[in-house]
Amino acid sequence: MKLARVCKHVSRCGLSILALLDRYVSVYEYVPEELLFRKTRLHEKSFAEEIENLRKLKLVETHPTRAAHRLTFLGLDCLALLDLVERDVISHIGPPIGTGKESVLHLAKTPSGDVVVVKFYKIGRISFKKVVRSRDYLVNQPSWLEASKVSAEREYRALSILSKQTELVPKAFGWSRHTVVMEIIEGVDLCDYRDARDPENILKLILTALRVAYLNAGIVHADLSEYNVVVSLRGPTELPYIIDWPQYLHREDPRSEGYLRNDVSNLLKFFKRRYGVVIDLERAVGYVKGLFNGI
Ligand SMILES: Nc1ncnc2c1ncn2[C@@H]1O[C@H](COP(=O)(O)OP(=O)(O)OP(=O)(O)O)[C@@H](O)[C@H]1O
Ligand SMILES: [Mg+2]
Repeated sequence: MKLARVCKHVSRCGLSILALLDRYVSVYEYVPEELLFRKTRLHEKSFAEEIENLRKLKLVETHPTRAAHRLTFLGLDCLALLDLVERDVISHIGPPIGTGKESVLHLAKTPSGDVVVVKFYKIGRISFKKVVRSRDYLVNQPSWLEASKVSAEREYRALSILSKQTELVPKAFGWSRHTVVMEIIEGVDLCDYRDARDPENILKLILTALRVAYLNAGIVHADLSEYNVVVSLRGPTELPYIIDWPQYLHREDPRSEGYLRNDVSNLLKFFKRRYGVVIDLERAVGYVKGLFNGI
């Protein structure tokens, strides 16, 4: 069933059960039914019906042996969507347009009719080891749902700061729980873009955006490669937008230097391999850090 339709099948009481499960997510892996029942103040029969409905909709999972329940990602999706709608960040949710390793993206509409993207974080679908390697800010999170919320908040924060400094990141319009609402970039992922008209210019635009992020906002991407750049083809120039910022580091972080070099090196290798564009690594890193005024 489509996400928007699932949300419509949830009653007001069902929603308050979902909200309770979310509230206790950091305390219990499965929230005891007795606690939920007490907090909702429903009659026994109505409570059982509500839980059954939520289970059928796959918004809630029941412990295999105990009377206890937990929120699923779909349950969290509903809570976040309804919150975004209530706060007029969006008015409609549309179909999925993409899936990353850690997220699903949907089209959506704002109350004024603009098309935007909602990124739903779904951390935990790849191995924990891999998540931790590049996302150490998630290590102490009690659950994948909480880890996903932290990622969404971090990405919203980074995009909000960065879009004041450069147009080459999507504008952020809001966030709720594990979701971020952002500007849609109509284009092609750099890794899938084969026939660039001016690859050298694309690379220089990316390095300039990284420089502005570093010098004006004090931010390093820390997971940059051809997979996290979308080339917009809307106008006459190819505009590379840098996406996927939850793991960003502050310039003062001692690890930022190594990650910055890695980000720049990934891009230089890609442009050399695909287009034969060669820029010296030291020169490019120095440019991003403001040590040189040109590349
Ligand atoms: N603002 C946007 N507008 C349009 N498409 C987008 C936008 N943001 C992301 N995408 C698309 O969705 C895909 C996944 O996005 P993103 O990289 O942010 O998620 P992810 O789960 O972190 O991905 P991965 O871990 O696989 O890198 C991108 O490769 C891109 O094609
Ligand atoms: Mg990505």
